[in-house]
Amino acid sequence: MMKKLSRREAMETIITAGAGVTLTGMTEVAAQPSASPAFSGQHQIRPLAFDPTKLKGISEKLIRSHHENNYSGAVRALNAVEQRLAAMLADKDLPPYVYGDLKREELVRTGSVVLHEIYFANLGGDGKAAGDVLDAIKKAFGSYEQWEAEFKRTGNALGGGSGWVIFALNFHTGELHNYWSWDHMHNAPFSRPLLALDMYEHAYQMDYGAAAAKYVDAFMQNVNWEEVNRRFTIAQKAIAALR
Ligand SMILES: [Fe+2]
Repeated sequence: MMKKLSRREAMETIITAGAGVTLTGMTEVAAQPSASPAFSGQHQIRPLAFDPTKLKGISEKLIRSHHENNYSGAVRALNAVEQRLAAMLADKDLPPYVYGDLKREELVRTGSVVLHEIYFANLGGDGKAAGDVLDAIKKAFGSYEQWEAEFKRTGNALGGGSGWVIFALNFHTGELHNYWSWDHMHNAPFSRPLLALDMYEHAYQMDYGAAAAKYVDAFMQNVNWEEVNRRFTIAQKAIAALR
């Protein structure tokens, strides 16, 4: 008797199937990796830009596991999704809602890839805020301490669950804000992340168990503020051009 697939299992079957879609009742289609950029599935894994043995309070084992399993896995999955979309698009009989399931998966994986790349690139620093972004934080939040308190509290609110804290410049409102993000898709509209904090359990469980607040403290000691300031400087120019 054929096993009934859950929605998640069905999606994984679609993503990982080599030659064709194997869901019952669906038309078998040959894989047709497209030359079009939108379906090419050629995203590359970015290596860590810092020495993972040198972080304060976050172990090399944890960072490498996070990078090699969660982030790299998301890149590989995004590539597979894009290539499967190309194959499914060629099947004219495919119900749109089946295609929509994979489009949702594409959004999840894209968010995961982008936010993880932002996250790893904003680690490896000394945790000391400086530059124009520090002045802007003081103006927007009253003081650096007030900004940090809100950023950390938002992170602690996500402890035990999943999601991201994203300090961002919103291109629409022109404001700096700490945004609560429940998952990879839950970003504030039209904002440039300047600093991203991964609050999925895989980001801290190996070192801290359920003590998420200790991980948030450790993260703050390793923020690469030069990178945050670089993002802010570019975003300011972009916002001036957009308004
Ligand atoms: Fe992560």
